Amino acid sequence: MDLNGSEQDPEMKAYSAVWVGREDNIKKSERMTAVVHDREVVIFYHKGEYHAMDIRCYHSGGPLHLGDIEDFDGRSCIVCPWHKYKITLATGEGLYQSINPKDPSAKPKWCSKGVMQRIHTVTVDNGNIYVTLSNDSFKCNSDFYATGNFKVIKSSS
Ligand code: FES
Repeated sequence: MDLNGSEQDPEMKAYSAVWVGREDNIKKSERMTAVVHDREVVIFYHKGEYHAMDIRCYHSGGPLHLGDIEDFDGRSCIVCPWHKYKITLATGEGLYQSINPKDPSAKPKWCSKGVMQRIHTVTVDNGNIYVTLSNDSFKCNSDFYATGNFKVIKSSS
């Protein structure tokens, strides 16, 4: 369902908000998958907030909707079930731990690779959840797996 009636312009339509489900349902399941303008996304409900991102992991296309959510360095992340990459729910950053090899006593520190997973916008209106695809022009690593060849969902759910 388009919120802003942009059916006339296909380019604008790709970035119009799409209804994906009811708030009651996602609050119970804490996650859902959806196809938004032919792009597969996963929506998480975590600690009272909604987050949407490309469903396939930026590393090798792992199914993020099947991962666990854990906190690292105080940031909530989805942990990819394939190779355990950690992706922040709020920003799509890839987190990793690094250690200074010249200082064996040092504790590993959490670092960010920058935004690797494309994050989309979730809006809630009268108990309905909508997702608007990101149209940020930067090249995001997860874009590669958001093409037709890597689809995992056959229809909106
Ligand atoms: Fe996600 Fe490798 S595919 S960590």
